[in-house]
Amino acid sequence: MRKLPVPEGEFWPLAGPIALVTTVDEAGHVNVAPKSWISMVARNPRLAVMGCHRQHHTARNLLTTGECVLNFPGDDLVGRTWEAHHFREPGPGEPEARGFTPVPALQVAPPRLKECRAHLECRLESVKWYGDECVLFLTVVAASADAAVLESADPAASLRPIFYLGEGTYGVIDRSAHAAPAAAEFVRYVITLKKQPGAVLSAELVRAHVAHLQQLEAAGQLVLCGPFADGLGGMVIIRAESEAAARAIAEADPFVASGAESYELRTWELSCAANNHMGMGG
Ligand SMILES: Cc1cc2nc3c(=O)[nH]c(=O)nc-3n(C[C@H](O)[C@H](O)[C@H](O)COP(=O)(O)O)c2cc1C
Repeated sequence: MRKLPVPEGEFWPLAGPIALVTTVDEAGHVNVAPKSWISMVARNPRLAVMGCHRQHHTARNLLTTGECVLNFPGDDLVGRTWEAHHFREPGPGEPEARGFTPVPALQVAPPRLKECRAHLECRLESVKWYGDECVLFLTVVAASADAAVLESADPAASLRPIFYLGEGTYGVIDRSAHAAPAAAEFVRYVITLKKQPGAVLSAELVRAHVAHLQQLEAAGQLVLCGPFADGLGGMVIIRAESEAAARAIAEADPFVASGAESYELRTWELSCAANNHMGMGG
Protein backbone atom coordinates (compact mmCIF):
# COMPACT_ATOMS: atom_id res chain seq x y z
CA MET A 1 0.00 0.00 0.00
CA ARG A 2 1.37 3.40 -1.04
CA LYS A 3 1.12 6.22 1.50
CA LEU A 4 2.07 9.78 0.62
CA PRO A 5 2.63 12.76 2.92
CA VAL A 6 -0.32 15.14 3.06
CA PRO A 7 0.83 18.52 1.67
CA GLU A 8 1.75 21.11 4.29
CA GLY A 9 -1.21 23.18 5.48
CA GLU A 10 -3.87 20.70 4.39
CA PHE A 11 -5.94 19.25 7.18
CA TRP A 12 -9.04 17.84 5.50
CA PRO A 13 -8.95 14.62 7.56
CA LEU A 14 -9.84 16.93 10.45
CA ALA A 15 -12.82 18.43 8.65
CA GLY A 16 -14.79 20.58 11.07
CA PRO A 17 -18.52 21.29 11.03
CA ILE A 18 -19.19 24.75 9.67
CA ALA A 19 -21.25 26.92 11.99
CA LEU A 20 -22.42 30.47 11.52
CA VAL A 21 -21.49 31.99 14.83
CA THR A 22 -23.65 34.79 16.14
CA THR A 23 -22.30 37.08 18.86
CA VAL A 24 -23.19 40.56 20.07
CA ASP A 25 -20.78 43.37 20.83
CA GLU A 26 -21.01 45.80 23.75
CA ALA A 27 -23.18 48.14 21.67
CA GLY A 28 -25.64 45.31 21.06
CA HIS A 29 -24.77 44.83 17.37
CA VAL A 30 -25.10 41.26 16.14
CA ASN A 31 -22.12 39.71 14.32
CA VAL A 32 -22.35 36.69 12.02
CA ALA A 33 -19.25 34.75 10.90
CA PRO A 34 -18.55 31.24 9.60
CA LYS A 35 -16.22 29.07 11.71
CA SER A 36 -15.19 25.46 11.24
CA TRP A 37 -12.51 24.77 13.84
CA ILE A 38 -15.22 23.46 16.10
CA SER A 39 -15.70 20.22 18.00
CA MET A 40 -17.50 18.76 21.00
CA VAL A 41 -14.89 17.79 23.62
CA ALA A 42 -16.80 16.82 26.79
CA ARG A 43 -20.22 15.48 27.71
CA ASN A 44 -20.46 16.53 31.36
CA PRO A 45 -20.41 19.51 31.28
CA ARG A 46 -21.34 19.75 27.61
CA LEU A 47 -18.26 21.49 26.24
CA ALA A 48 -17.42 22.55 22.69
CA VAL A 49 -14.23 24.21 21.46
CA MET A 50 -13.79 26.75 18.70
CA GLY A 51 -10.53 28.09 17.27
CA CYS A 52 -10.54 31.76 16.29
CA HIS A 53 -8.13 34.58 15.46
CA ARG A 54 -7.96 37.17 18.26
CA GLN A 55 -8.74 40.04 15.84
CA HIS A 56 -12.00 38.49 14.65
CA HIS A 57 -15.18 40.11 15.88
CA THR A 58 -16.34 36.67 16.97
CA ALA A 59 -13.47 36.22 19.45
CA ARG A 60 -13.60 39.85 20.58
CA ASN A 61 -17.35 39.71 21.23
CA LEU A 62 -17.14 36.36 22.99
CA LEU A 63 -14.34 37.59 25.23
CA THR A 64 -16.35 40.68 26.19
CA THR A 65 -19.94 39.41 26.39
CA GLY A 66 -19.26 35.70 26.95
CA GLU A 67 -22.03 34.28 24.76
CA CYS A 68 -22.58 32.94 21.24
CA VAL A 69 -24.85 30.73 19.19
CA LEU A 70 -23.43 28.10 16.82
CA ASN A 71 -25.98 27.97 13.98
CA PHE A 72 -25.51 24.98 11.67
CA PRO A 73 -26.28 25.71 8.01
CA GLY A 74 -27.23 22.92 5.62
CA ASP A 75 -25.77 22.72 2.13
CA ASP A 76 -28.68 24.85 0.87
CA LEU A 77 -26.91 27.78 2.59
CA VAL A 78 -23.34 27.23 1.32
CA GLY A 79 -23.26 30.41 -0.76
CA ARG A 80 -24.52 32.69 2.00
CA THR A 81 -22.30 30.95 4.54
CA TRP A 82 -19.11 31.56 2.55
CA GLU A 83 -20.12 35.13 1.74
CA ALA A 84 -20.50 35.82 5.46
CA HIS A 85 -16.72 35.67 5.99
CA HIS A 86 -16.22 38.96 4.12
CA PHE A 87 -15.35 41.77 6.50
CA ARG A 88 -18.12 44.13 7.53
CA GLU A 89 -17.97 46.98 10.06
CA PRO A 90 -20.11 46.21 13.11
CA GLY A 91 -23.50 47.84 12.87
CA PRO A 92 -27.22 47.20 12.93
CA GLY A 93 -28.81 44.68 10.59
CA GLU A 94 -25.79 42.41 10.05
CA PRO A 95 -27.71 39.09 9.95
CA GLU A 96 -30.20 40.54 7.44
CA ALA A 97 -27.35 42.00 5.32
CA ARG A 98 -25.82 38.50 5.24
CA GLY A 99 -29.17 37.04 4.15
CA PHE A 100 -30.25 35.62 7.51
CA THR A 101 -33.19 36.25 9.82
CA PRO A 102 -32.34 36.62 13.52
CA VAL A 103 -34.74 34.94 15.96
CA PRO A 104 -34.32 35.05 19.75
CA ALA A 105 -32.23 32.34 21.35
CA LEU A 106 -33.55 30.41 24.37
CA GLN A 107 -30.79 31.17 26.89
CA VAL A 108 -28.32 33.69 25.49
CA ALA A 109 -28.40 37.19 24.04
CA PRO A 110 -27.04 36.48 20.52
CA PRO A 111 -29.84 35.39 18.20
CA ARG A 112 -30.37 32.11 16.40
CA LEU A 113 -30.48 32.29 12.58
CA LYS A 114 -33.84 31.07 11.33
CA GLU A 115 -32.51 29.64 8.06
CA CYS A 116 -30.13 27.30 9.92
CA ARG A 117 -31.84 24.13 11.11
CA ALA A 118 -29.86 23.43 14.32
CA HIS A 119 -28.39 25.66 17.00
CA LEU A 120 -26.14 25.32 20.05
CA GLU A 121 -26.30 28.20 22.50
CA CYS A 122 -23.03 28.62 24.38
CA ARG A 123 -21.36 30.53 27.21
CA LEU A 124 -17.62 31.07 27.31
CA GLU A 125 -16.02 28.76 29.87
CA SER A 126 -12.32 29.49 29.34
CA VAL A 127 -9.80 30.44 26.68
CA LYS A 128 -6.33 29.23 25.77
CA TRP A 129 -4.02 31.38 23.67
CA TYR A 130 -1.61 30.33 20.91
CA GLY A 131 0.01 33.51 19.60
CA ASP A 132 -2.72 35.47 17.83
CA GLU A 133 -5.07 32.53 17.85
CA CYS A 134 -7.19 31.23 20.67
CA VAL A 135 -9.18 28.15 21.52
CA LEU A 136 -12.46 29.13 23.13
CA PHE A 137 -14.01 26.55 25.44
CA LEU A 138 -17.79 26.89 25.25
CA THR A 139 -20.37 25.42 27.61
CA VAL A 140 -23.45 24.41 25.65
CA VAL A 141 -26.42 25.78 27.60
CA ALA A 142 -29.21 25.06 25.09
CA ALA A 143 -29.63 23.07 21.90
CA SER A 144 -32.51 23.34 19.44
CA ALA A 145 -33.37 22.22 15.91
CA ASP A 146 -36.23 22.48 13.45
CA ALA A 147 -39.05 20.03 14.19
CA ALA A 148 -38.64 18.64 10.67
CA VAL A 149 -35.05 17.65 11.53
CA LEU A 150 -35.81 16.13 14.91
CA GLU A 151 -38.87 14.27 13.62
CA SER A 152 -37.04 12.93 10.57
CA ALA A 153 -36.03 9.25 10.44
CA ASP A 154 -32.48 10.44 9.77
CA PRO A 155 -31.95 13.79 11.54
CA ALA A 156 -28.33 14.13 10.35
CA ALA A 157 -29.32 13.70 6.71
CA SER A 158 -32.24 16.06 7.17
CA LEU A 159 -29.91 18.74 8.53
CA ARG A 160 -27.32 18.15 5.74
CA PRO A 161 -24.54 19.82 7.77
CA ILE A 162 -21.49 21.05 5.88
CA PHE A 163 -17.83 20.50 6.77
CA TYR A 164 -14.79 22.59 5.87
CA LEU A 165 -12.33 20.60 3.75
CA GLY A 166 -9.93 23.36 2.68
CA GLU A 167 -9.89 26.61 0.74
CA GLY A 168 -13.40 27.04 -0.71
CA THR A 169 -14.20 23.34 -0.33
CA TYR A 170 -16.82 21.62 1.77
CA GLY A 171 -18.33 18.19 2.34
CA VAL A 172 -21.87 17.36 3.39
CA ILE A 173 -23.44 14.61 5.50
CA ASP A 174 -26.34 13.26 3.48
CA ARG A 175 -26.93 9.98 5.28
CA SER A 176 -26.22 8.35 8.60
CA ALA A 177 -25.98 4.66 9.46
CA HIS A 178 -25.59 2.53 12.56
CA ALA A 179 -22.01 1.27 12.93
CA ALA A 180 -23.22 -1.94 14.55
CA PRO A 181 -26.63 -3.55 14.82
CA ALA A 182 -28.14 -3.35 18.28
CA ALA A 183 -26.97 -6.19 20.51
CA ALA A 184 -29.42 -9.07 20.09
CA GLU A 185 -30.16 -9.17 23.82
CA PHE A 186 -31.73 -5.72 23.47
CA VAL A 187 -33.96 -6.52 20.49
CA ARG A 188 -37.57 -7.71 20.58
CA TYR A 189 -40.10 -8.18 17.78
CA VAL A 190 -43.55 -6.65 17.95
CA ILE A 191 -46.34 -8.36 16.03
CA THR A 192 -49.51 -6.31 15.77
CA LEU A 193 -52.54 -8.30 14.70
CA LYS A 194 -55.47 -6.68 12.92
CA LYS A 195 -58.83 -8.41 12.66
CA GLN A 196 -60.03 -8.58 9.06
CA PRO A 197 -63.49 -7.11 8.28
CA GLY A 198 -66.16 -9.77 8.73
CA ALA A 199 -63.76 -12.32 10.25
CA VAL A 200 -65.23 -14.55 12.94
CA LEU A 201 -62.89 -15.71 15.70
CA SER A 202 -64.44 -19.03 16.65
CA ALA A 203 -63.66 -20.56 20.03
CA GLU A 204 -61.71 -23.25 18.19
CA LEU A 205 -59.58 -20.65 16.39
CA VAL A 206 -58.94 -18.69 19.59
CA ARG A 207 -57.85 -21.90 21.34
CA ALA A 208 -55.43 -22.68 18.47
CA HIS A 209 -54.02 -19.14 18.74
CA VAL A 210 -53.56 -19.57 22.50
CA ALA A 211 -51.81 -22.91 21.97
CA HIS A 212 -49.39 -21.09 19.62
CA LEU A 213 -48.73 -18.51 22.34
CA GLN A 214 -48.20 -21.26 24.92
CA GLN A 215 -45.61 -22.87 22.65
CA LEU A 216 -43.76 -19.57 22.45
CA GLU A 217 -44.03 -19.22 26.21
CA ALA A 218 -42.60 -22.69 26.78
CA ALA A 219 -39.71 -21.86 24.44
CA GLY A 220 -38.99 -18.68 26.43
CA GLN A 221 -39.81 -16.51 23.42
CA LEU A 222 -43.01 -14.85 24.56
CA VAL A 223 -42.54 -11.47 26.23
CA LEU A 224 -46.08 -10.03 26.32
CA CYS A 225 -49.33 -10.67 24.48
CA GLY A 226 -53.00 -9.80 24.57
CA PRO A 227 -55.95 -8.44 22.64
CA PHE A 228 -56.74 -4.75 22.26
CA ALA A 229 -59.83 -3.77 24.27
CA ASP A 230 -61.57 -2.49 21.11
CA GLY A 231 -61.79 -6.08 19.85
CA LEU A 232 -60.05 -5.21 16.57
CA GLY A 233 -56.83 -7.12 17.09
CA GLY A 234 -53.97 -7.66 19.47
CA MET A 235 -50.25 -7.50 20.04
CA VAL A 236 -47.61 -10.15 20.61
CA ILE A 237 -44.09 -9.21 21.67
CA ILE A 238 -41.50 -11.92 21.22
CA ARG A 239 -37.82 -12.74 21.32
CA ALA A 240 -36.48 -14.27 18.09
CA GLU A 241 -33.12 -14.95 16.46
CA SER A 242 -33.79 -12.69 13.53
CA GLU A 243 -36.50 -10.72 11.79
CA ALA A 244 -37.03 -13.64 9.41
CA ALA A 245 -37.51 -15.99 12.38
CA ALA A 246 -39.98 -13.55 13.94
CA ARG A 247 -41.89 -13.36 10.65
CA ALA A 248 -42.15 -17.15 10.51
CA ILE A 249 -43.59 -17.11 14.04
CA ALA A 250 -46.11 -14.42 13.11
CA GLU A 251 -47.22 -16.39 10.06
CA ALA A 252 -47.55 -19.59 12.07
CA ASP A 253 -50.11 -17.91 14.33
CA PRO A 254 -53.48 -19.55 13.50
CA PHE A 255 -55.12 -16.12 13.49
CA VAL A 256 -52.81 -15.15 10.62
CA ALA A 257 -52.59 -18.54 8.90
CA SER A 258 -56.40 -18.72 8.75
CA GLY A 259 -56.64 -15.24 7.24
CA ALA A 260 -58.78 -13.99 10.13
CA GLU A 261 -56.16 -11.41 11.04
CA SER A 262 -53.39 -9.60 9.19
CA TYR A 263 -50.17 -8.70 10.93
CA GLU A 264 -47.44 -6.10 10.96
CA LEU A 265 -43.98 -6.96 12.26
CA ARG A 266 -41.66 -4.37 13.76
CA THR A 267 -38.15 -4.75 15.14
CA TRP A 268 -37.99 -3.06 18.51
CA GLU A 269 -34.72 -1.87 20.06
CA LEU A 270 -34.94 -1.68 23.82
CA SER A 271 -33.92 1.47 25.61
CA CYS A 272 -33.37 0.57 29.27
CA ALA A 273 -31.04 1.03 32.23
CA ALA A 274 -29.11 -2.13 31.28
CA ASN A 275 -27.92 -0.58 28.01
CA ASN A 276 -27.75 2.93 29.47
CA HIS A 277 -30.70 3.88 27.27
CA MET A 278 -28.83 2.96 24.09
CA GLY A 279 -25.71 4.74 25.33
CA MET A 280 -27.49 8.08 25.62
CA GLY A 281 -28.24 8.04 29.33
CA GLY A 282 -25.61 10.60 30.28
C1 LIG B 1 -16.21 28.07 5.82
C2 LIG B 1 -15.33 28.97 6.63
C3 LIG B 1 -14.85 28.53 7.85
C4 LIG B 1 -14.04 29.35 8.65
N1 LIG B 1 -13.59 28.90 9.85
C5 LIG B 1 -12.85 29.69 10.65
C6 LIG B 1 -12.42 29.25 11.93
O1 LIG B 1 -12.73 28.13 12.36
N2 LIG B 1 -11.67 30.07 12.68
C7 LIG B 1 -11.31 31.32 12.24
O2 LIG B 1 -10.64 32.05 12.97
N3 LIG B 1 -11.72 31.77 11.03
C8 LIG B 1 -12.48 30.99 10.23
N4 LIG B 1 -12.90 31.44 9.00
C9 LIG B 1 -12.56 32.79 8.58
C10 LIG B 1 -13.48 33.81 9.22
O3 LIG B 1 -14.82 33.48 9.11
C11 LIG B 1 -13.28 35.17 8.60
O4 LIG B 1 -11.96 35.57 8.79
C12 LIG B 1 -14.25 36.22 9.09
O5 LIG B 1 -14.00 37.42 8.43
C13 LIG B 1 -14.15 36.51 10.57
O6 LIG B 1 -15.29 37.24 10.88
P1 LIG B 1 -15.50 37.95 12.27
O7 LIG B 1 -14.41 39.01 12.39
O8 LIG B 1 -16.85 38.54 12.10
O9 LIG B 1 -15.41 36.92 13.35
C14 LIG B 1 -13.69 30.64 8.18
C15 LIG B 1 -14.18 31.08 6.95
C16 LIG B 1 -14.98 30.25 6.18
C17 LIG B 1 -15.49 30.74 4.85
